[in-house]
Amino acid sequence: MPSLRGPRVVAGPPGPRVTKLLTDSGLDPSSYSSPIVDEARGIYVRDPDGNVFVDLISGRCVANTGYNHPRVVEAVKAQAERSIHWQTEQAYTLVGRLEAMLGSGPKQVYWGQSGSLSNDHAIKAVRRATGKPTILAFTGSYHGSSMGAISLSGYDPSMKRHYGPLVPGIEHVPYASCYRCPLKLEHPGCRLACLGYIEEVAFKSYVPADEVAAVFVEPVQGDAGWHVPPPGWHEGLKRLCEKHGILHVADEVQTGFGRTGTWLGMDHWGVKPDVVILGKAMGSGVPISAVVLGRDLLESTDPEPIPIHAQSFSATPLGTAAAHATMDVIRDERLCENSEAMGAYAKKRLTELMGLHPCIGDVRGLGLLIGVEIVKDRERKTPDPAAANAICSEAFRRGVYTLNMGSYGGRAIRVAPPLIATEEQVDVAIEVLDASMRRVEGR
Ligand SMILES: Cc1ncc(COP(=O)(O)O)c(C=O)c1O
Repeated sequence: MPSLRGPRVVAGPPGPRVTKLLTDSGLDPSSYSSPIVDEARGIYVRDPDGNVFVDLISGRCVANTGYNHPRVVEAVKAQAERSIHWQTEQAYTLVGRLEAMLGSGPKQVYWGQSGSLSNDHAIKAVRRATGKPTILAFTGSYHGSSMGAISLSGYDPSMKRHYGPLVPGIEHVPYASCYRCPLKLEHPGCRLACLGYIEEVAFKSYVPADEVAAVFVEPVQGDAGWHVPPPGWHEGLKRLCEKHGILHVADEVQTGFGRTGTWLGMDHWGVKPDVVILGKAMGSGVPISAVVLGRDLLESTDPEPIPIHAQSFSATPLGTAAAHATMDVIRDERLCENSEAMGAYAKKRLTELMGLHPCIGDVRGLGLLIGVEIVKDRERKTPDPAAANAICSEAFRRGVYTLNMGSYGGRAIRVAPPLIATEEQVDVAIEVLDASMRRVEGR
């Protein structure tokens, strides 16, 4: 299989084919900022005009094993030859592998085809399991775009505007996004006040603790700007859940499958959730997602068979084949280890860039899930969305694709290449970001 190498910009972007495609689709070609794929391999995406981009966001943290990993492609092809619909043995054996990955007893799985859908399924599961109506979620969180998922999310008001009324019974509490603390405090002086808020404020003013079914939490808040909670926060949240009989639900859709340097994000804190939501990288691009929960969880309160989850497409043959192959590749190619090593390397290099670029306010993340906060004023942490957009556009023109996101008005550029990235590839991408920042800073 011929390999791609980049970055290589030969036309535009956009070049003539993409310009025609966008124009014919009634779109402005100058809006071209995310590569249209003609072919993709490893960390590279080639567009229809022959431009080869480094994908610094792994197709939204989906291509952890790299685009079109030959073992994943082979597994999907082989399965397609036999059957592309209805359950196969691989769905059953995949449950065993997920059990081993989670390592906390027998599991049942509700399959889905997206992270959003699986968050919706998890809302149903925790309410059914506990008989309680209320769910806690966090400010800054992103759980997806379906009705349940936007109701859980606290990422940006634009996700919710004009879609209401949303799913009732979901209450938001502050996340430990220390760089932009919702309580305007400083860690460690704050003594994890955001965690204390749940018992001291929420449970004493607007949330009856005994009516809370579950808390939904991201191990690292991704789209909010790649915020990593400080030591003790996740452990404290789990203890709080145990104390009040609340189910602890980890949304590992973005952090799962090696992205942060461990199989699951929660592994960094040794926390075992009651329910885990998986998606994105699970099938390396073939849609598959899952809610994984203790086998006793629903049976304990409801001995009847539960009609929780009828779907035409459940554990699809292509999705489960791709998930097995993805897990094989992550294990055999030691991609968790590479994610950790390359993440540390990229973070070091990006932190060094802070000496050259006053626009970098912070560099943070775990493994290859890194955010580079762009600010007008480092001391005041004043967000600079215009500069963040301009840096991403400039990088795109130079053949590196990334984007910027954030809550509370902040904007962080995402540095999250496929977990197969080498030091040399990381260097090339960071050099392009460096040059793009210099250009935007007018130097
Ligand atoms: C933590 C988290 N949960 C859920 C989702 C939604 O997943 P999907 O886009 O597959 O619906 C995302 C997507 O970015 C996510 O980051």
